[in-house]
Formats: sequence, C-alpha cells, structure tokens
Amino acid sequence: MAKTDAIKKMVYSQTVQEPDYEAETKQLVASIERLERENQLISNTLNRIEEESSMLKELFNNANVELNNLKKPALLVAEVVSLHGDKATIRLPNGNKFFCYISKELIDLQSGDSVLVDQKSLNVVDKININNNYDVEKYVIIEKPQENWKEIGGLKEEIREIKEVIELPLKKPKLFEEVGIQPPKGVLLYGPPGTGKTLLAKAVAHSTDATFIEVVGSELVQKFIGEGAKLVKDIFTLARLKAPSIIFIDEIDALAATRMDTGTSGEREVNRTFMQLLAEVDGFKPLDNVKIIGATNRADILDPAIIRPGRLDRLIEIGLPNEEGRLEILKVHTQKMNLNSVALDKIVGLTDGFTGAELRAVCTEAGFCAIRENRNHVTETDFLSAVEKVRLEAEEDADEQFFG
Ligand SMILES: Nc1ncnc2c1ncn2[C@@H]1O[C@H](COP(=O)(O)OP(=O)(O)O)[C@@H](O)[C@H]1O
Ligand SMILES: [Mg+2]
Repeated sequence: MAKTDAIKKMVYSQTVQEPDYEAETKQLVASIERLERENQLISNTLNRIEEESSMLKELFNNANVELNNLKKPALLVAEVVSLHGDKATIRLPNGNKFFCYISKELIDLQSGDSVLVDQKSLNVVDKININNNYDVEKYVIIEKPQENWKEIGGLKEEIREIKEVIELPLKKPKLFEEVGIQPPKGVLLYGPPGTGKTLLAKAVAHSTDATFIEVVGSELVQKFIGEGAKLVKDIFTLARLKAPSIIFIDEIDALAATRMDTGTSGEREVNRTFMQLLAEVDGFKPLDNVKIIGATNRADILDPAIIRPGRLDRLIEIGLPNEEGRLEILKVHTQKMNLNSVALDKIVGLTDGFTGAELRAVCTEAGFCAIRENRNHVTETDFLSAVEKVRLEAEEDADEQFFG
C-alpha cells in the first residue's frame, strides 16, 4: 500500500507540475530581441548593398557616357570671320577660311566668336566660350601693383600729367561729365629705357587701385603668331571684367611701327594685331574705367594711327633725369641704406646722363662694396667706385647694341 502511494505521488509530481511561465516568457522576449537585432543587421546590410548598387550604377553610367563621348568625332575650334544670314565665313587655326552653314539653334553669333565646327562638313554646330580669360591670364601679367608715387624720383611734371589724364578720370568721372570734356583713353610714355615708364604706370595703377594688365608688344607678335589679334581682344575683355583697369602695353612700337613693307606674312600678322588694338581702343568710351598706357623707346618709328585723337592722344616724354631728378632718385634708393657721410649731390654731379635704373644700380653696387669689405655702412668711396662700374657696364651695353 505504502508503495503504491509512493508511486502515485511520484507520478503526480511529474505530470501535474505547474509550468514555469515566467521563465518561458523571458526566453521568448530574449529570442524576440535577438530576432529584432538580426533583423536590424540584415536591413543595415541591405541598405549598404543598395547604396553600393546605386554607386556601381552611377559608375557604369559615367563610363558609358565617357565611352560614347570618346566614340564621337572631335570638333574643330574655329573663329567666325563674318556672318552672312545662315552662313558664315570661318577661319581655322591654320589660317584657312571656309564658307559654311550655321546650325539653326545658334542665334546671336557674332564675328570673332569661337565656334565648334564639324570635321567633315565644316558646318558650325555650336558656339563655345573657351574660357579665354584663363588663356589671357596665362600670357599677360596681371597684378595690383604696390608702387607708390613716393618711390619715383623727379618726374614731377610727368606725374602731374598722368594724374590728370589717368587717375582723375578713374577716380572722378562725374567731374568730367559735369565740365563736359572727354579725358583721353590713354597716354603714350616715350623716352629712353630705364627712365621710369613702367614705374609710373604701376604707380598710377596703385593710386587708383586698378588692375594692372601688362603686355609686351614684341611678345604679342613673336610668341602668339596667328593669335595676336585674338589675344588683344581677350585682353580688353579681361580689362573690362576686372575694371577699373590699366592696360600697359610696353614696347608698343613692336605693334605700331610704321610699316615699311607689308609683303611678308609676318608683317601682315603684326598688322592684324595692330588693327585689332585700334578697334578695341576705338570701341570703348573715354569714361569707361579702362585706361591704356603705351610705352616706347622708339617714338620715332611709331605708327601715327595709334596717337590720333580719341586714341592714345596724350604723349608724355619721360626723359633722362636732370640734376634735381637724379638727386631725388638717389634719395629714393638710399632711403633704407646705412650711409656714412655720403654727399649725394657730389654723386649727382658725376652721373650726368644716367637713367633712373642706372642710379638704382649705383646704390645697389655701393652697398655691395660695403658688404665685400665687411662693413655695415656705405661710404662715399663705395659710391664713387659704383658710379664707375655702372658707367662701364652701360658703355659696354651700348657697344654691344651698336656692334650687335
Ligand atoms: N624716376 C625714377 N625714380 C626712382 N627709380 C627709378 C626711376 N626711374 C627708374 N627707376 C628705377 O629703375 C627701374 C626700372 O625702371 P622702369 O620703370 O622699368 O623703366 P622703363 O620702363 O622706362 O624702361 C625701376 O624699377 C626703378 O627701380
Ligand atoms: Mg619698362
């Protein structure tokens, strides 16, 4: 009896045992959380894969576009010479001219524009703004000069004149409107090399806070064969863009020399560049805030067309400095030098015929004499030997020019 009881008890306790709900719930919650985490992970992976897929698609598209572009025939870049209704004369870079059709979509085309031309038909298919300014900026010097009027010795009258014709119209154009006169569009500085023409041009750019665009005439015709005229055009466009501007054309005689024979293609090329220069000068108004300063050592060979009224019609001679000028130039260049009882007027007396550039060379050379002798001050003797050295060098240079 007791045995069966015991068995009963055992069975009972096994089968009717209360289930542990709490533990089970905990387990379930845990697995839900695990599944949720897994779900999150999977959806993260999915997102990443989608991103990758769209990146790859983009790559593919780009490559495809590139491939298609590579398959297209290249177009020629040409310049429009003249327009005739729906046709135009264009010039290829090699100088050959063609008469061709213009695509209907191209309205407001102008002569001088750069266009794209189909290689086979030579018809104009598109207009381009080759960023010319970038091109020009590579070829000319553009700066905001820091030269001050105070750094110029002598040239009082010349400075006054430049202020009047360049600085005043740029600073106070109203004044000219009120009075009712037109300032010159530009000036021509002429005189021997080294007398301060570039210096003056930079100083007036500084005093007017103008962009200074420097071009060298001889480079324009030598370096940019076939491109001179275009470059001139681009320079003026750039000048207007960066106005107020001063265009400084050094060695302007290289462009505007009286033409002795016009036979060679080189001559014709110069001619074209020069014609463009005249056209540009004529094309802007006296009170536009672009001014031109030309400089030359050879006023004698200059084509008078450039100095006609309405062009660079103010001529300013920049000559060799007189005694007073030389003293002032020496003062400018010795200002920061440590001088030991140097009578500058004595140096002035010894430097008749020296240019400003030569006087500066004298000062530098005198400084070198002191350095060579381990001194930190410069004496009159240093200056005397410097004067002789610079004189000799100048004579050698002159001989070289004379004998080639
Ligand atoms: N009048 C002057 N006053 C002070 N320095 C001068 C003067 N003229 C020339 N120089 C010096 O000679 C340098 C060359 O002169 P620059 O203006 O280039 O002459 P140019 O353009 O007439 O050939 C100047 O940078 C300056 O240092
Ligand atoms: Mg110069």
